[in-house]
Amino acid sequence: MSELRFDGQVAVVTGAGGGLGREHARLLAARGARVLVNDMGGGPDGSGKGSAKPAEAVVAEIEAEGGVAAPSAESVATPEGGRVIVEQALDLWGRVDVLVNNAGIAGGGLFHELPPEQVEAMLRVHVLGAYNVGRAAWAAMLDQGYGRVVNTSSNSVFGLPGTAHYITAKAAIIGFTRALSMERAGHDLKVNAVMPMAYTRLTAMLPSGRFKDWLQEHYGPERVAPFVAFLASKQAPCSGELFTVGGGRVARVFLGVAPGYTAADPSPEAYRDHWEEIMSPTGYAIPADSQEEIALYSGEIGWEGADSPDPNRAT
Ligand code: NAI
Repeated sequence: MSELRFDGQVAVVTGAGGGLGREHARLLAARGARVLVNDMGGGPDGSGKGSAKPAEAVVAEIEAEGGVAAPSAESVATPEGGRVIVEQALDLWGRVDVLVNNAGIAGGGLFHELPPEQVEAMLRVHVLGAYNVGRAAWAAMLDQGYGRVVNTSSNSVFGLPGTAHYITAKAAIIGFTRALSMERAGHDLKVNAVMPMAYTRLTAMLPSGRFKDWLQEHYGPERVAPFVAFLASKQAPCSGELFTVGGGRVARVFLGVAPGYTAADPSPEAYRDHWEEIMSPTGYAIPADSQEEIALYSGEIGWEGADSPDPNRAT
């Protein structure tokens, strides 16, 4: 079995001062990448002044393990921060092959009680953070004609009470991943996303009990990093995909669409009376893009061309 290696490559891992990011950074470095370990420090909810110490400690660990790394304590949450992070990697090593957008904060509260500042902070770190660093790295990757981006979503998108702002942010990461995967401009650029599950300081905040004990025993963050490294490698087989990853298990998560029901004469009653058809997942499809989704039903609704309508390519 040939080993997946990153020799000669440069990786930027955000939020790599602890938890999952630390494992991503250590594994990429152990496989030959030079790694920019970015982490602004701070509490699990983003509180505190920030500190360079977590990033520096991980760099020291990587160096002790024989790897090459440099620390960055910039925040991903501003366009300037994103630019500086990527520029540091470019200044040091001349390229950026891999970006793992992993930085994140946690925090809960009922939707109607969440202060707007907390909602904004959550969106700034997760959504704009991925966007800011992604934007700068993507430009370098386009120049090189090569790049891999791994974004971090969350299985809370399936539904979890009491964290509306977090889930909103993590759902946006899915849209961002799909959007970016459409912009590779003919180059070998691939972008995917993971929904990790791991015992870290974030999940350590869960109430004590059997679930938390089980997580601690079976869901070490080092059991997520290998799949992230695979997606970050030259051999990444896909782009625009989403995976749930934890405890050694990986599975595809997808946006599918069912055949549904088409009313010849739409009325509220028509939909009430065909509710089972509307809701049935039987015969679902997984469209590669929005045109494919339209193509699935265009024939039923009066499209007479030989091909399906193609709003983007027609212009
Ligand atoms: P963690 O708290 O150990 O790691 C997150 C890191 O991001 C921290 O070291 C923090 O200092 C850093 N960070 C926060 N804001 C930053 C900013 N503005 N700029 C740069 N760095 C910043 O937590 P964990 O669990 O390792 O989380 C990593 C990612 O995985 C996060 O995006 C989280 O939302 C996501 N995730 C984790 C899950 C889990 O089971 N642990 C479940 C689903 C998603």
